Order: sequence, then structure tokens, then C-alpha cells
Amino acid sequence: MASNSSNQDEYILSRGLQDNMRLNLQHYLWNDKGYLLHPSIPIKEGLRIAEIGVGTGIWSLETARIVPKSAQIDGFDIDISQCPPRDLLPKNVTFSVHNCLTPFPHELTGTYDVVHIRLFILFVQENDPGPLLRNFLRLLKPGGYISWSEYEYKSLEVISTSIPEVEDSITPLLHFIGSIGETKPSWTATHWPSDLPQTYKEIGLTNIEVDRRPFSRELLPFYLDACLAACEEISYKALDPLGGGKGERARSLVKKCLENRQKSHLQLNRLTVLGRKPEK
Ligand SMILES: C[S@@+](CC[C@H](N)C(=O)[O-])C[C@H]1O[C@@H](n2cnc3c(N)ncnc32)[C@H](O)[C@@H]1O
Repeated sequence: MASNSSNQDEYILSRGLQDNMRLNLQHYLWNDKGYLLHPSIPIKEGLRIAEIGVGTGIWSLETARIVPKSAQIDGFDIDISQCPPRDLLPKNVTFSVHNCLTPFPHELTGTYDVVHIRLFILFVQENDPGPLLRNFLRLLKPGGYISWSEYEYKSLEVISTSIPEVEDSITPLLHFIGSIGETKPSWTATHWPSDLPQTYKEIGLTNIEVDRRPFSRELLPFYLDACLAACEEISYKALDPLGGGKGERARSLVKKCLENRQKSHLQLNRLTVLGRKPEK
């Protein structure tokens, strides 16, 4: 039987019940007052879309509802066990196991109108999205679009809704988790997503558009839930194995943030950068 996964142990998050729900919650929060497909991408008959790193597959499945039936959406991930099984999928959606850091099968070269990628920051090596972008670019037809979405940690602020303000546990938690228990540079201090427009230019993409959307204020507690769930997953999966009580420390910070769920929140931009492969 074909496997649904590869590289399982290298994945820093988990793939259990909480993870499935977190990814789907995050998806709906991401799209609040936003869009599935960037409005500059023309929706047409026969549209072919590739999704990179599908998670539960929720983006591909929802997008399949807003494109013509003749459109085709192919999702790629190192592990598709969080997606619905093939028998439940619409006819025009597929999910396949592929390590997107490596070249795609030759027959896919130049076959897609759109490459969509969202929340992939943890898997970008050496803070350099360039090699990945070049890999994705090969999938695109001339004139095709790349749409990359990430949280913009540079814009992160902790918002207090209580007087007096409670002690900020969110920043230390994100720093601790982001630096894998202070063993690595923190991805929350990594600002390459803000530089994506420049990176797009350097690799020859055109028609670059940048979209920044903070969360609606009333939804901030739900975003905090999603963020804390991810921190907890990482505490078990990546910090406990390091020993020294690192996992426990992270979980005690998660607990404090939860105790202050009515008082302290984090806000940041949902950043999307769109670019187009030149026609020639
Ligand atoms: C944080 S989740 C985001 C899922 C989805 N993009 C979303 O926005 O809901 C990242 C996904 O990328 C996948 N992933 C990680 N490294 C990958 C790689 N080298 N190739 C393909 N997928 C990868 C993970 O398995 C996971 O499903």
C-alpha cells in the first residue's frame, strides 16, 4: 500500500486531534475578511492550482468550491494523513506525498496557473525562501501566479485589554518556542517574509502585490487559542526530547497565557505576497 507520509520525525508539530483542529481553526481565522484566492488571480475554466504543504487540505477543499468544476487542484505534502481520504475528495482535488524542498516530477513542469503556499516558515531552510521559490516557479506556466502567505512576526504586538496590565507571558513564550528552548535562532525574529517582494523581484517575478491584514480584534482570543495549541504541540514534540525541563517551562507559559485569555492578546499581520512569472 502506498504510504501517506515521509520524514515524519522531522516535523516539529504533531498530527493528532488537536493539530487537525488547530490547522482548520487557523484556516478560518486566516480567511476572515480576506480571500481564498488573491483577487488579482483570474478564475477561469481549466484553472490548474498547486498547493504546497497542505496540512489538513482545508484550503484546497474550500478553493475547489469557488473555482469552475473544470479546474484542477493538486496538493503536495510530506504527509497527507491529516487530509480526508481520496474517496471523500471532490473529483478535481488530489493530495500527494512530495517533499517540496526537492524537485517535482518532470511531467509537472510548466503545468500550473497558480502555486499557493501558506504557513511554511518552519520549513524554509537558512531563512532563504529563494531556492524554494525557484523550485515552485518551475511548476508555473508562463504568466502563472505564486501566492505566498505567512504571519509577519515583525508586526507582532501584545495587546492588553485590562487595567492594570497583566505581565506579558506571550512574548517570552513565543521567544522560547521560536528558539526551540533557546537552542536555535528564533523564527519569530526572522523577517524574510517581509522581504518576499524584494526576493520575488530578484528571481524575476512581476506584477508583485503585497497584502497585510491584522486580525479582527474580536477574533484575537481565537487566534491566541490556535497559537497556544501550536506552542503546546512543539513543547511535547521538540522541547521534551531536549530534556532540562524545557517542555515543562513552555507549558507553564502556555498556562499563564491561557489564564490571561481575557486580558492579553497577540496581534500581527497576515501577509500575502503575490507575483507573476513573466510571459516570456
Ligand atoms: C503549518 S502546516 C500549514 C498547512 C497549510 N498550508 C495551512 O495553511 O493550513 C505546514 C504543512 O507543511 C508540510 N510540510 C513541511 N515540510 C514540508 C516539505 N518539505 N514538503 C512538503 N510539505 C511540507 C507539513 O507536513 C504541514 O502539513
